[in-house]
Amino acid sequence: MPQIIDGKAISAQIKDEVKERVAELAAQGKKVCLAVIQVGNDPASSVYVGNKKKACAYVGMESLAYELAEETTQEALLDLIRELNAKEEVNGILVQLPLPKHIDEDEVIRAIDPKKDVDGFHPQSVGALCIGQPGFVSCTPAGIIQLLKRSGIEIAGKECVVIGRSNIVGKPMALLLLRENGTVTVCHSRTKDLKEVTKRADILVAAVGKPKMITREYVKEGAVVIDVGIHRNENNKLCGDVDYEDVAPVCSAITPVPGGVGPMTIAMLMYNCANSVSR
Ligand code: GUN
Repeated sequence: MPQIIDGKAISAQIKDEVKERVAELAAQGKKVCLAVIQVGNDPASSVYVGNKKKACAYVGMESLAYELAEETTQEALLDLIRELNAKEEVNGILVQLPLPKHIDEDEVIRAIDPKKDVDGFHPQSVGALCIGQPGFVSCTPAGIIQLLKRSGIEIAGKECVVIGRSNIVGKPMALLLLRENGTVTVCHSRTKDLKEVTKRADILVAAVGKPKMITREYVKEGAVVIDVGIHRNENNKLCGDVDYEDVAPVCSAITPVPGGVGPMTIAMLMYNCANSVSR
């Protein structure tokens, strides 16, 4: 059976490291504070935002929660971001996505001061990642790199295939694997003969958004399989983009759902927040 990559344990380890860092900063008289903005009350977003607040409390950071009504205007949201940009005691600003349809998400992201962009979504952060400069990195793909490294999985020289090209996961994932000297291919909905491409992967990252789509026909024997998906199946049980039962027997390592990639996002957000202080 494959190595099960334990995202719960690795994320706990990272949060404990961040907690120590936050305590060191506190000893120097520096506080860490994250501002979290949610517009509307999408239930999934409310759960994520609640978990972010809990994680801040765990590592000893302050958090400010802004819960704005669904009908909040673009201008009011931009005003709040500008106010938080100017507040010295706020280190990180996170606007929970998705935003209501009447709001221009790109303009909102661009309004965040890149020095406080702990989500790593600002074009300046993405550009810095692209050319190998320091800057905040999107939390989910950054967490996947940590999962690989802390599980003893070498990236350099490996064939890495990413399925999905979103700004939040697929694109930054490809850039990070490249930074680690992987040979990277990005697949998407228009890729011809997807299975033929994914079967080349030593490291396969599935961020397709379709429950259990990735069966063993997509996976090379002995590959490392990272599952970014999170869905509820017909019995209300969580499952990923990968058909775990089918794929696990043929791969060398795999992330479970839940308990794989999921917990890493918040751990890396805490890591980014602690790092926002000395910038
Ligand atoms: N919505 C889903 N994932 C994320 C994330 O990582 N950050 C933010 N801000 N919103 C999200």
